[in-house]
Amino acid sequence: MKRRWVILGSAGQLGISLVRLLERALDDEVVAALDLPDVDIAERASVETAVLQSPGGPPDFVVNAAAFTHVDRCESETDAARRVNAVAPGIVAAVCHRAGARLAHVSTDYVFDGRARTPRREEDPAAPLSVYGWTKLEGERAVLGVSDRFLVVRTSWLFGPGRNFVGAILEQAARIRREGVGTPLRVVDDQVGAPTYAADLAEGLVALLSKGRSGVYHLTNAETATWWDLARAALDESGFTDLEIERIATEALELPAPRPRYSLLDVSKAARDGVVLRSWRAALSAYLRSSDAPVVRTGGPR
Ligand SMILES: NC(=O)c1ccc[n+]([C@@H]2O[C@H](COP(=O)([O-])OP(=O)(O)OC[C@H]3O[C@@H](n4cnc5c(N)ncnc54)[C@H](OP(=O)(O)O)[C@@H]3O)[C@@H](O)[C@H]2O)c1
Repeated sequence: MKRRWVILGSAGQLGISLVRLLERALDDEVVAALDLPDVDIAERASVETAVLQSPGGPPDFVVNAAAFTHVDRCESETDAARRVNAVAPGIVAAVCHRAGARLAHVSTDYVFDGRARTPRREEDPAAPLSVYGWTKLEGERAVLGVSDRFLVVRTSWLFGPGRNFVGAILEQAARIRREGVGTPLRVVDDQVGAPTYAADLAEGLVALLSKGRSGVYHLTNAETATWWDLARAALDESGFTDLEIERIATEALELPAPRPRYSLLDVSKAARDGVVLRSWRAALSAYLRSSDAPVVRTGGPR
């Protein structure tokens, strides 16, 4: 029998990747792929309609990939951040519990303060630095407070279909090439993390759910990077090998939200379940060769 899924946040990087993956799988059926304005995960009635009244009856699985992911805006839009990242996950969990559906909720490396120098394990104490991190942590707790059978997957530095760092860098590079001179690229080189391809995360998350896993799991692509490393690799893969990038410190950007300096998540728990994602460099190559790759317009004759 086909497994039935509801994907919340289906227009985001992970949501799009999940829907595509499940629509390719013969054993799975996406009964609802929903995002704003068709569902608002912070509104109980809206979530009830999405989950309890999904076509043909309640789903087997729900994935909450919806979130307020603008880390800097969260610092000033605290009510919106709390509503979507902290309160809504509890609403989604309660409705899933009522429907008898298994829930996977997605969270972030930003629940840690980045002071450690070894990859963070699931049970390590969380200590967020930002409103985004705090609200995401509250969301995790709300989900697991409803049922310890639910799954929380923490990931980091996502790229995939939609707005992301890799796309922003390639856009700037294309502008520099089009306009000749201009400000050189400047990218932070003092934060360490694991860039993660949304398509790979989608596969890993579905694998963990299919194995019946619950509780908190860390899941990222393998190997470490700074944002500078990721920018350099994206430029090299996209024909901008000659374009220099200045290495800068986080402070130079004067961003509203503090970032963890060291953001690596220990993924060995997922690995023990046979869920291992490839290196971020291999994943980045796959992304840049895919139809989701950012369109880079460098001008010149057509
Ligand atoms: N992006 C990262 O680098 C990163 C890193 C670590 C963890 N994560 C986590 O991974 C998950 C997926 O991230 P992502 O990058 O795929 O996010 P994304 O691209 O920003 O997508 C999130 C989606 O959720 C939607 N949404 C926001 N508020 C909603 C609401 N109240 N009801 C329904 N939908 C709503 C957004 O719509 P609008 O665009 O219209 O707001 C957007 O389509 C999130 O839980 C995020 O916290 C992300």
